[in-house]
Amino acid sequence: MLSNTLLTALNDQIKHELYSAYFYLSMSAYCDAHHMPGAASWLKVQAQEEQAHALKFFAYIQERGAAVTLQAIDQPPTTFGSLLEIFEQVQKHEAFVTSLINGLYELALKENDYPTQIMLQWFISEQVEEENTSAQIVDMLRMVGPQGQALFMADAQLGRRAQG
Ligand SMILES: [Fe+2]
Ligand SMILES: [Fe+2]
Repeated sequence: MLSNTLLTALNDQIKHELYSAYFYLSMSAYCDAHHMPGAASWLKVQAQEEQAHALKFFAYIQERGAAVTLQAIDQPPTTFGSLLEIFEQVQKHEAFVTSLINGLYELALKENDYPTQIMLQWFISEQVEEENTSAQIVDMLRMVGPQGQALFMADAQLGRRAQG
């Protein structure tokens, strides 16, 4: 059985994943309104991935015979800076989510909850990928610099990410 501490932490993580989706969707809306359709599309796919993460925790709690409790999701920021600044924020947010996942894992270890440790291993690997992807985009945008033509190409490149 899931302990109450772990159940609370897993329910909290649903909120964090949904906030991530909200955050990226808000960035997507901003990019769309500021003539960056490629980044808008990339961020919308990213938001869908975060929703899928929330649903993984949702299903896991239920599979363990416990109850999901949904919480209020904070309003995300609505204005963002340059394309580089946006992806720096993505990178920073993913590092924060990694710290949350690591915290959950530490809790599952402390409570000797083996199934939760196994479930979280998928998220630990996923966070490696998320941090790596956002770091690569930040590197690319730093290399591109602020010139319009190069940014136009970088935005088009981001737009090639397939729908999730
Ligand atoms: Fe996530
Ligand atoms: Fe993520």
